[in-house]
Amino acid sequence: MRRKIVAGNWKMNTTPVEGVELAKAVAAGKGEVCPCVDFIVAPPFTHLSEVVKATRGTGIAVSAQNCADEAKGAYTGEVSAAMIASLGVEYVILGHSERRQYYGETSATLNKKMALALANGLRPIYCVGENLAEREAGKHLDVVTAQIEEVVYNLTPEQFANVIVAYEPVWAIGTGKTATAEQAQEIHAHIREVLRKKFGAAAEQTPILYGGSCKPSNAAELFAKPDVDGGLIGGASLVAADFLAIGKGFAK
Ligand code: 13P
Repeated sequence: MRRKIVAGNWKMNTTPVEGVELAKAVAAGKGEVCPCVDFIVAPPFTHLSEVVKATRGTGIAVSAQNCADEAKGAYTGEVSAAMIASLGVEYVILGHSERRQYYGETSATLNKKMALALANGLRPIYCVGENLAEREAGKHLDVVTAQIEEVVYNLTPEQFANVIVAYEPVWAIGTGKTATAEQAQEIHAHIREVLRKKFGAAAEQTPILYGGSCKPSNAAELFAKPDVDGGLIGGASLVAADFLAIGKGFAK
């Protein structure tokens, strides 16, 4: 059985003090949610250390939102995978569409980031997803196939065992427009098939999360689909009650 995961990508929101409060509120309400759900919170770099301390012993794991594509050295403003891991952070989001779109991340960059994350014991949450034009042209399956083949296919089976995939259609992120449960299932099943081609039965264990305007009102329907193993939540993860309510999309 695959674990169920509800992860909150806080993006560039909250101060460190607000972040600690938010993480504590999630921890306080976690008991109301099925123990089958693993919660992850992904604060900005500046709060990682404090949020790790605030969530210690609560069962809530912490993720970074990015890491550098070099190990160390003269890369002003960058934060390495080793630095992140040294704080007790367990996950790192890589290849988010906002990073691909606004910061020019390519498969070449992401191959380096994935290797560094895994070498430092971080579990990557690797994001894929098509934009609106690609969806309207019927190319969504091809787009995510390429995003998987160009990066995930370069991993060894041992590395692959630590990867989580997040499908986030760009047209659904922050727009209030959610993929239907059927659209999500179609593409999640396709992603698993692409993973199976390279990694065989190990693909059955890979959590594939849905992201894009996921909220309490649509989580249960999305999560009911067999290949939707949870969510990567943006806006709704900034309100503890909403984030927890999304977790309740998995029946207790
Ligand atoms: P929203 O939930 O705000 O649409 O963001 C989704 C997302 O990008 C999570 O990484």
